[in-house]
Amino acid sequence: LSGTLAEPSFSGITASRLQTAVDKAYADFKNLSEGRNADYIPILTETPSNLFGIVLATPDGTLFSAGDVEYKFSIQSISKPFTAALVMNQTSPEVLKEKIGVEPTGLPFNSKLALEIYEKRSVNPLVNAGAIAAVSLINADSEDKRWYLIRQNLSDFAGSELELLEKVYQSEYDTAWSNRAIANLLYSYHRLYCDPEEALRVYTKQCALGVSCENLAIMGATLANGGKNPITVKQVLQKEHVPELLAIMATAGFYDESGEWMAQAGLPAKTGVGGGIVAVVPGKFAIAAFSPRLNASGNSIKAMKAIRQISGELGLGIY
Ligand code: DON
Repeated sequence: LSGTLAEPSFSGITASRLQTAVDKAYADFKNLSEGRNADYIPILTETPSNLFGIVLATPDGTLFSAGDVEYKFSIQSISKPFTAALVMNQTSPEVLKEKIGVEPTGLPFNSKLALEIYEKRSVNPLVNAGAIAAVSLINADSEDKRWYLIRQNLSDFAGSELELLEKVYQSEYDTAWSNRAIANLLYSYHRLYCDPEEALRVYTKQCALGVSCENLAIMGATLANGGKNPITVKQVLQKEHVPELLAIMATAGFYDESGEWMAQAGLPAKTGVGGGIVAVVPGKFAIAAFSPRLNASGNSIKAMKAIRQISGELGLGIY
């Protein structure tokens, strides 16, 4: 019809359908009160538990949002795949595979047992051991440089300067006995590639970077967009390495719940104990959600439910 403008659509789905799916997930799960904030990092108990936000991003950076999408929380383990990407950029996927590994552990994120049963390896870059090893693998001639490169890379994925949440860092570093044990064990197995306390400090800072749900959505959209940030148009990860990274997220992004997640949502994703999750629909979308209450595996209950429902309603699951 002349004179009528067609509604914009993204990967064949209209803007209004995308917004409706986001709004519906927000309304459906907003009042759930199952689960609890992470408490092994003491300060995380202080995050208001009822916060809830959802952002769906397209590969051109268009956002569809509902709820608390600007609140800054600590990125925690969602940082891990992005630092693995930096290792791939600086070296190669083969180095990541050889020095860390890419197999799922089937065990919790902080497992020490996994290091023993998998021949004293850190196993994959998405569990704590592998993520601390990834930090240690970054080419840097000082601790400041290591932190600078890691923070810059995460900021490049977000298209925005991410700031350290100083109190989260202090709270986690003051109580990081378990990660310190992992770092020292790995070092003794020649599977950590810089001073263990330096690796622990920089890893803990990486986990304490503040992100909003909107930042996470753009980080995911960068992966959905073949490694190029839609806002800054910087190629942050080489395009040919994106599938390898998404594959590791698909098999290990939810630790011992990865199979369950994949069976239900069908999307590569990464979670963090701050309450965030980002999922990627390759070439099409990223969906980020945030809510602090976690299940026993350390994954946000509302964020999981929201992403799963949106994926189902829009038919986004890759299987
Ligand atoms: O090292 C830790 O335990 C935290 N900084 C990150 C753990 C985490 O986010 C696990 N994910 N769901």
